[in-house]
Amino acid sequence: MYKAFYGLTENAFNITSDPAFYFESSRHKEAYSHLLYGIKGRKGIICLTGEVGTGKTILCRMLLNKMDQAVKTAFILNPSFSQIQLLQLITKDLGIPAKKNNKLDLITSLNDFLIDQNGQGHNVAVIIDEAQNLNTHQLEQIRLLSNLETEKEKLLQIILVGQPELLEKLQKPSLRQLNSRIGVRYHMQPLDKNELHEYIEHRLAIAGAPKKLLFTDGAIERIYHFSKGTPRIVNILCEHALLAGFVNETFTIDEEIIKSAAREALAL
Ligand SMILES: Nc1ncnc2c1ncn2[C@@H]1O[C@H](COP(=O)(O)OP(=O)(O)O)[C@@H](O)[C@H]1O
Ligand SMILES: [Mg+2]
Repeated sequence: MYKAFYGLTENAFNITSDPAFYFESSRHKEAYSHLLYGIKGRKGIICLTGEVGTGKTILCRMLLNKMDQAVKTAFILNPSFSQIQLLQLITKDLGIPAKKNNKLDLITSLNDFLIDQNGQGHNVAVIIDEAQNLNTHQLEQIRLLSNLETEKEKLLQIILVGQPELLEKLQKPSLRQLNSRIGVRYHMQPLDKNELHEYIEHRLAIAGAPKKLLFTDGAIERIYHFSKGTPRIVNILCEHALLAGFVNETFTIDEEIIKSAAREALAL
C-alpha cells in the first residue's frame, strides 16, 4: 500500500528470510565463516544457535546459494518428523533415488552416495533448521549419520541450526556423545546499534527506496530500544513505521512514529 508512495519496488521489511536482502553484519559474517570452516574442514557436526529472529535461516539460505559445486547440500526446514521421514527427506533433497524405504535401505543408499561423492572429490552437507524441535531419538540418529566416514575423513557434514533450547537438549546425559562430537559452534547475537542503522538502510536500498526516505537518529535509537537489535523485530517495527509514515504523508520516520509503531505492532 505504501510502496507506491515511497517508490519501493518491493516490501523492504518482509519477515521472510529472502537472501536477496541479506546484510552482512559482523556477526553474520563470523557465523558464515564458522559454517564454511566446519563444512570445508569436514568437522562432522556443526551447531549454529541464536534466539528466534536473529537471522539464522537467512544465513543458511545465503550459504546454500553461495556453496560451490563440489559440496552437495540438503536443507531440511522443519524436522518435526519420524526418524524414517527425516532420512527420507535428507536422501530426497540430496537427489538419491529411493529404492525401498526402510531405515536400513535408506542408510545404505546414503552411505553409497557419500562414498561415491567422496570418490569424485565432493563433500556433502545437510543443514537441519529448527533443530530444537528434534527429539532425543532423532538427534541420536543424526549422530549415527555423522559416523559415516572413511578412515581419513567425515563423509557427511551436518549443520544443526536452532534456538537456544537446542543447546539445553544437547546437555542431556543421553546426548553426551552427540554433544562431544560437535566440531564447530557459533551463537548468533543480535545487531548492535551501528549495524542496526546500516541494516535498515541496506534493506531500504535493496527495495529501491529514494534517498529522501529517512529514519532519524532518534528513530534508530527507539528501534534499538524496542528490538534490542533482533532483525525480525526490527522488520516488524519498520514495516509498521512505513505504513504510519505513508498515512502521515511523510518521508521522515522519526521517534514518534516508531513509538506508535511499537504500540501497534508489539502491543506495548
Ligand atoms: N543478516 C540479515 N540480512 C537481512 N535480513 C536479515 C538478516 N538477519 C535477519 N534478517 C531478517 O530478519 C527476519 C528473521 O530472520 P530469520 O533468518 O528468519 O531468523 P531466525 O532463523 O534466526 O529465526 C527475516 O525477515 C530476515 O530476512
Ligand atoms: Mg529460522
